[in-house]
Amino acid sequence: MAAVVMDLSTARGVRCTASSHSLSSARTCSTSSSLPSGFKSQMLSVNLNVVRRAGKTGRLEVVMTATLPPKTQGSPVSKRPTETHSKVMHSISPEKLEMFKSLEGWASKTLLPYLKPVEKCWQPQDFLPEPSSEDFLDQVKELRERAACLPDDYLVCLVGDMITEEALPTYQTMLNTLDGSRDETGASPTPWGVWTRAWTAEENRHGDLLNKYLYLTGRVDMKSVEKTIQYLIGSGMDPQTENNPYLGFVYTSFQERATFISHGNTARHAKEHGDAKLATICGIIAADERRHENAYTKIVEKLFEIDPDGAMLAFADMMKKKISMPAHLMYDGQNNHLFDDFSLVAQRTGVYTARDYADIMEHLVKRWNVPSITGLSEKALAAQQYVCGLPPRIRRLDERAQAKVKKGPKRGSFSWIFNREVALL
Ligand SMILES: [Fe+2]
Ligand SMILES: [Fe+2]
Repeated sequence: MAAVVMDLSTARGVRCTASSHSLSSARTCSTSSSLPSGFKSQMLSVNLNVVRRAGKTGRLEVVMTATLPPKTQGSPVSKRPTETHSKVMHSISPEKLEMFKSLEGWASKTLLPYLKPVEKCWQPQDFLPEPSSEDFLDQVKELRERAACLPDDYLVCLVGDMITEEALPTYQTMLNTLDGSRDETGASPTPWGVWTRAWTAEENRHGDLLNKYLYLTGRVDMKSVEKTIQYLIGSGMDPQTENNPYLGFVYTSFQERATFISHGNTARHAKEHGDAKLATICGIIAADERRHENAYTKIVEKLFEIDPDGAMLAFADMMKKKISMPAHLMYDGQNNHLFDDFSLVAQRTGVYTARDYADIMEHLVKRWNVPSITGLSEKALAAQQYVCGLPPRIRRLDERAQAKVKKGPKRGSFSWIFNREVALL
């Protein structure tokens, strides 16, 4: 991928984009599936965007990114989903970075207590058949009898959630892209480094438990699931957080809430389908997500306290970009719209819906007391109005989309369940 930024005021040279919140609109994001057909057939994508640069000069810049076709030499072109973004990086200003760095004492005192000591944490083995026990096989038999009642569309949702959890290396990488809070050495003693490693270690139990449970059920094609995980980790993700801790912690606040909702729903549904132990498993994972959400929203709450303008602009910026789902690049080697299919099943079964997206946004608006924040700059005031008006707008759009969706049944097969079909709509 090549990215070029031209300064039209001088029409000279090529240089990197400097950073500021105002550049958020410069970002271009496309997947090959969203390209005009002419571009698709040539396997070439060109994204063009015009942005107004911050500052009194108000100069115009053109940001252009181009993705060139892979050298295929006769071999089939992979239809694997990909994403390209313009390279807006390190968008926190030096002053704000200093301000953020001054929060270390606060993070030690206020953030780290959200972690649980290892000895007090549950472990996957607490909820799985004990392999050293004489009745291990009986325990597995019981598990399989309970899991036999789980419908295929439920399994698709649970597998999708498990794969999302299993791409944990990507999320730790994302946290370590953030200026001011990254773990600089891999074992940094700063509260941010301690938090990131311990958060990762807590999260690691989620994918581990769901993976082992699903393996023991015998209901899913584990090799296909494992391939999807390998593809997904290999794809990484770019949530457009620009190495900026303001944007990064808005993103993680949203995502932890989303996983709390999703695991909470798979818990409820497992109980309804008659697998109480699986309900407990999804429930304890949801509880972890809730605790993590509390921690990340606490960070953003602090940013609103010390820098209401900056926090407001960051919140609006991430909402404008739309929060990308961490597993949106999932691929199993066959289905190039696997994530869309999985999302449809999650939507139809009520595991995670467009309404949840709007609810999360509304929850965060309330959590950070966004409507009552005063003393904002003109730009931040506009951002405040934008985020406050967004949840009802998204609900309206969702209602319209749902009305269209009801027009006809659609089914899709998933390699995760041996290519059996489930209803998508
Ligand atoms: Fe998790
Ligand atoms: Fe999480």
